[in-house]
Amino acid sequence: MASSSTLSIPESSDIPQHLAIIMDGNGRWATKRFLPRTAGHMRGVQAVRRVVEACGERGVEYLTLFAFSSENWRRPKEEVSLLMRLFMQTLEKQISKLERQGVRLHIVGDLSPFEPRLQEMIRDAQARTAGNNALHLTIAANYGGRWDILQALRKLMAAKPELASQPDAIAESELAPYLSMAYAPEPDLFIRTGGEQRISNFLIWQLAYTELYFSDDFWPDFGAKELDAAFEWYRTRERRFGRTSAQLAR
Ligand code: IPE
Ligand code: IPE
Ligand code: MG
Repeated sequence: MASSSTLSIPESSDIPQHLAIIMDGNGRWATKRFLPRTAGHMRGVQAVRRVVEACGERGVEYLTLFAFSSENWRRPKEEVSLLMRLFMQTLEKQISKLERQGVRLHIVGDLSPFEPRLQEMIRDAQARTAGNNALHLTIAANYGGRWDILQALRKLMAAKPELASQPDAIAESELAPYLSMAYAPEPDLFIRTGGEQRISNFLIWQLAYTELYFSDDFWPDFGAKELDAAFEWYRTRERRFGRTSAQLAR
């Protein structure tokens, strides 16, 4: 199981081991060009391909992309169905390439509301890449940080019902293995494009000590150059994890 930033001090290096991204600004990218919002989502897929490739080249081990939040169902019906279609088409088109590139694909989130065909494609894509380990690519789909903590708690209580009568025994390390990204270390770097500076219910547990980087670029404009700028900024951070600067200098 991956270690916890609140229980021990993680190692840091120049390139984040785990990068998590909120890919935001597709709609505004399109609106600015008098195009329908959906055109922005389609261009956003190209940015995903660029960033996956660039991360692989730079030695990132885990890349997590927020594709659809548990709150995105609130959008107009047409936009939601376009996003679902796009997700399916992209999986279908890209899976062979990802498989060849050694990418291991994980989809996290509550998949139960997705149509059966999409659920099947997700299972198949995960199974096909299960032996890979060049880059762990996680797509968060119908994901919410609060959902994640709750589903972990439910699983823990189902596995260890005796904890209900001894709540003091519920340590962080008891719950963490049930979180949906227990296979990955916590993100070192978080990027949100599109200019907003919020977490929008993304990995709220896992971002406890993550460096947060906000870019004004809209997601469809994001690529290797913008990624390098974020990594450059990341290198200047002093990751103290609660300690003082003087302690780090020693
Ligand atoms: C992010 O872009 C993509 C998803 C949330 C699926 P948006 O669609 O949120 O784009 P803006 O924020 O409206 O520009
Ligand atoms: C967050 O973006 C979700 C994804 C990128 C998938 P939103 O555009 O939905 O976030 P808010 O509503 O502006 O906070
Ligand atoms: Mg948005």
